[in-house]
Amino acid sequence: DEQGELITRAPVVTIMGHVDHGKTSLLDAIRKTNVQTGEAGGITQHIGAYQVEQNGHKITFIDTPGHAAFTAMRSRGAKSTDIVILVVAADDGVMPQTIEAINHARAAKVPVIVAINKIDKPSADPTRVRTELLQHEIFVESMGGETLDVEVSAKTGENLDKLLETILLQSEVLDLKADPNRSAEGTVIEAKLDKGRGPVATVLVQRGTLRPGDIVVAGSEWGRVRALLNDRGTAMTEAEPSTPVEVLGFQGAPAAGDRFAVVETEARAREIADYRARQKREKAVARQTTARGSLAEMMNQRQSAGLKEFPLVIKGDVQGSVEAIAGALEALGTDEVQARIILSGVGGVTESDVTLAATSNAAIIGFNVRANKQARDVADREGIEIRYYNIIYDLVDDVKAAMSGLLT
Ligand code: GTP
Ligand code: MG
Ligand code: NA
Repeated sequence: DEQGELITRAPVVTIMGHVDHGKTSLLDAIRKTNVQTGEAGGITQHIGAYQVEQNGHKITFIDTPGHAAFTAMRSRGAKSTDIVILVVAADDGVMPQTIEAINHARAAKVPVIVAINKIDKPSADPTRVRTELLQHEIFVESMGGETLDVEVSAKTGENLDKLLETILLQSEVLDLKADPNRSAEGTVIEAKLDKGRGPVATVLVQRGTLRPGDIVVAGSEWGRVRALLNDRGTAMTEAEPSTPVEVLGFQGAPAAGDRFAVVETEARAREIADYRARQKREKAVARQTTARGSLAEMMNQRQSAGLKEFPLVIKGDVQGSVEAIAGALEALGTDEVQARIILSGVGGVTESDVTLAATSNAAIIGFNVRANKQARDVADREGIEIRYYNIIYDLVDDVKAAMSGLLT
């Protein structure tokens, strides 16, 4: 990937908290709409994504459900965000999903702003909320900590401007940048099959700019973007980083949490999607028939051995691919965990590759190449895993998932 010019992007802010503490109402009040009263049973059962503007600065909001059943949705919400707004009702205090939200934010290493809501109520006790938060190691400013907190009311609109200003303050500190001049990438927030419009995916663009006509792949689905709609249903000609958009044009509905990326051709998109669909089926079968260790499990074993490096041998069919793979894997490295490529080269996986891998307890990656018989025999004997790929994204995704697994 060529590194282009970076621009400041809008903060992505996920609203989290216990059921009925007023998350959707707060967003409604901020957007001056009325989603909450239209919800079945008054509870949120999907993730909504919206963008607002405050003094010329855009802010992207992701609403999440507070109901206990939606843990996975909340976890995804916390992962694709820059800031979590923790909504706590001042008359109810810290409750189970408040605590869960704190844990998701912490796991995702995302800063929290506390919105103490419903302060219009006579029974509101914001001081009690702050004290209860202490027990979960959320120290707000007035209690000598660093977490920003704002007392608000979605009902009267009190302090909503202050909440927005606090978000902008926090996002300035985070110094959020993205490159708009590259092919778009991001996360599927939710997707559905709409009777009239076909598959509709709500995506968050995180890098690059998405446009109608772009060919997108998300998980095992692909499509050509027929239209982009903002949260008010207005067609858009482009969506830059941090913009949530509805994408029409997918052949099938991707899964919430899938990554999406723009690719060059329909043929390429179909190839990637088909490959992943096949892999999904194979994985399902493999789960049923064998307990063979996955890449992630191998890394977990290394973690228990106290290592934060992932040694790899990479073999591929052409030098350009091997270089690209090595570069992409090295770029995944953080201060805590790194891929260490002990050997890379062109050609099939040989016995000497396996022997070398064994001395470093490395995993072997074959890209568009296979291992010969002798190599497979040695690998079996030494317990060395050889993984085969023909799509770089999948390879990188697997290693990335395994590397983050090493840290949790
Ligand atoms: P889930 O998405 O189901 O978790 O709920 P939520 O956190 O989005 O809460 P929601 O916006 O559905 O509000 C729950 C109830 O609290 C509704 O009856 C709202 O009218 C009420 N409510 C929300 N904010 C306030 C507020 O600031 N003051 C008062 N008095 N009531 C509020
Ligand atoms: Mg809600
Ligand atoms: Na509710």
